[in-house]
Amino acid sequence: MIRKKFIAGNWKMNKTAADGAALTAEILAAIGRETAVDVVLCPPYTALESVGRALEGQSVKLGAQNMHPEKNGAFTGEISAEMLRSLFVSYVILGHSERRTMFGDTDAFVNKKTLAALANQLKPILCVGETLAEREGGATLAVVQRQLEGGLAGVTAEQLASVVIAYEPVWAIGTGKVATTAQAQEVHAYIRELLTKLYGAPLAQKVRILYGGSMKPANAPELLAQKDIDGGLIGGAALEAKSFVELVKAAILAS
Ligand code: PGA
Repeated sequence: MIRKKFIAGNWKMNKTAADGAALTAEILAAIGRETAVDVVLCPPYTALESVGRALEGQSVKLGAQNMHPEKNGAFTGEISAEMLRSLFVSYVILGHSERRTMFGDTDAFVNKKTLAALANQLKPILCVGETLAEREGGATLAVVQRQLEGGLAGVTAEQLASVVIAYEPVWAIGTGKVATTAQAQEVHAYIRELLTKLYGAPLAQKVRILYGGSMKPANAPELLAQKDIDGGLIGGAALEAKSFVELVKAAILAS
């Protein structure tokens, strides 16, 4: 397999600094220095430092859930790429549907964040995905195309190597309603086709495209067996060591 599988836990607004460190310790105790799969933990900002400390010397990497594109300044409540880097953050989730729907993140703003992240050696996990109404209206691929091309505008071929894409159908997030493997694979293949058009096949073949939306140990093996599904962005099932570790193991088995 040319693409290493990738499992990221998106803790959303869950876990204090202490709870996050405890969960991290539990996960590390079970998976150790796993290197067959890339594993990333994305706690809330307030737990980045404690989780980062727990991850010192480990192969599991630290991720944030958002950031502001500006370097510094009068942006009350915001956090910059540089601030994340100073806490040894490697990845940052950008354009998550919860940010898009609840906090007004547009494609243009997500693009600014993507470019700022890359300029600061942070690897974006760029999220795209349609709502239920968009799927039912036959707009899935058009929405994904708009979000992908919008998010990646100005990203160079060289920078693409640091980008991870996550396809998260909004109707499957936190709902227990997982996309069928066929539905997911169709969109993943389409994303790779778009990347091929933008950057050429050799680079597009290297980009990891994660699935997100009610992924759990029971449905992961089938999803991870799909040709263009290279891992998962996990919400609910990332909040407990047992289910998260099972997902990491499913990714190892699928490698
Ligand atoms: P979920 O969330 O696994 O709880 O559906 C996924 C996500 O929003 O990243």
